[in-house]
Amino acid sequence: MEKIVIKGGVPLSGEVQVSGAKNSALPLLFATLLTGGVSEISNVPALRDINTAVKLLRELGAEVALEGDCCQINTEKIQSIEAPYELVKTMRASVLVLGPLLARFGHARVSLPGGCAIGARPINLHLKGLEALGAKIKLDHGYVEATADKLRGAKISFDLPTVGGTENLMMAASLASGETVLENAAREPEIVQLAAALTSMGAKIEGAGTAVIHIQGVESLKPLACRVIPDRIEAGTFMIAAAITGGNILVRGAISEDQEALISKLIETGAEIVPEADGLRVIGAPKVAPVNIRTSVFPGFPTDMQAQFMALMAVADGTSSISETVFENRFMHVCELQRMGADIQIDGHTAIVRVSRQITGAPVMATDLRASASLILAGLAAENTTEVSRIYHLDRGYEKIEKKLAALGANIWREQE
Ligand code: UD1
Repeated sequence: MEKIVIKGGVPLSGEVQVSGAKNSALPLLFATLLTGGVSEISNVPALRDINTAVKLLRELGAEVALEGDCCQINTEKIQSIEAPYELVKTMRASVLVLGPLLARFGHARVSLPGGCAIGARPINLHLKGLEALGAKIKLDHGYVEATADKLRGAKISFDLPTVGGTENLMMAASLASGETVLENAAREPEIVQLAAALTSMGAKIEGAGTAVIHIQGVESLKPLACRVIPDRIEAGTFMIAAAITGGNILVRGAISEDQEALISKLIETGAEIVPEADGLRVIGAPKVAPVNIRTSVFPGFPTDMQAQFMALMAVADGTSSISETVFENRFMHVCELQRMGADIQIDGHTAIVRVSRQITGAPVMATDLRASASLILAGLAAENTTEVSRIYHLDRGYEKIEKKLAALGANIWREQE
């Protein structure tokens, strides 16, 4: 197993290029199942989750060629409609094959994902939505079996705005007969990109990016050709790297409109954010001011940035409160940050972060994807050496993070445990 070693205390400076968004690339890859023929997606990040998605597509019978950041997928000869437990448990986003397979073949069998480190994460809203489109859903030996002769458009009002649920339903409804209206839909930029991609395939979708999406079903779709948008969570992580080290970084590919909540909170900490032609420059303050945050759905503060922001608050000059409202168990990084000297107390869904004398390097363990990034950020600000183990979580969602940080001047490298 590998670990990442960091010798902290260096203010980072220079430019970094953000990779394609994992959370956009995954639904786009699965959207190719809606039709036969050869689709091409570029700016695909080199990540473990992408490899899992490619494995799943191949398991279903697709021919996939992944060269550099370009992925060609031939979905003409799909032979299986089953997403097995081994793949779904490695990556929950595998459930996104459900909508496309059901819509194209009238049948799909997908393992239930089970819980994960950050919460229960059920898929009940995906299933309820597909049922509203006329699918028959059966649970069998840990698998969801969905069947439908022909999906029919319907009005679906989500109990809460689910990103994956909105994506699954948008894909399924594209091939349903008649109109589907999704109310209380998720509004994340990744939803907007998926809607644009489906539209380029021939789907009729309006309202993506708002809470109400209208989808007029069509008979068939064309293969997909598109470029994945930049990863706003990776961009945000580098923005915090500038703030936590008192550095000056141009984050190329960061988009202001996708980062408004994070930008306004970083400005409150004293950081300066300067929009430039192809990204955002972040200049960290000598003293970080404490700021309260509360995660929520887009355009609120992203839950996927909560752990990284907590690392920043651990070096702030005062007390801050961080409330997590999206996932019930997303404070796994707290114990590890405490081992580095952070003064954090959890009270229900809120973490109170107080001034600590100095964050010091320590051996710590990554527990999930964004928690890993939080520990790396803390390591960049810490005195002495931090060793982050179990970095397979990190490799699920950050492309070459240690190389990108080293190019900004950080003392960071990967080695065998
Ligand atoms: C996606 C992102 C993930 C991000 C999350 C929230 C991908 C691949 N992953 O995950 O990085 O943290 O959005 O921004 O894009 N819920 C239900 N029933 C359902 C579906 C969801 O109760 O059927 C709950 C979840 O448990 C959670 C909340 O809704 O509490 C939001 O989940 P959701 O938006 O669906 O997240 P994902 O699509 O799984």
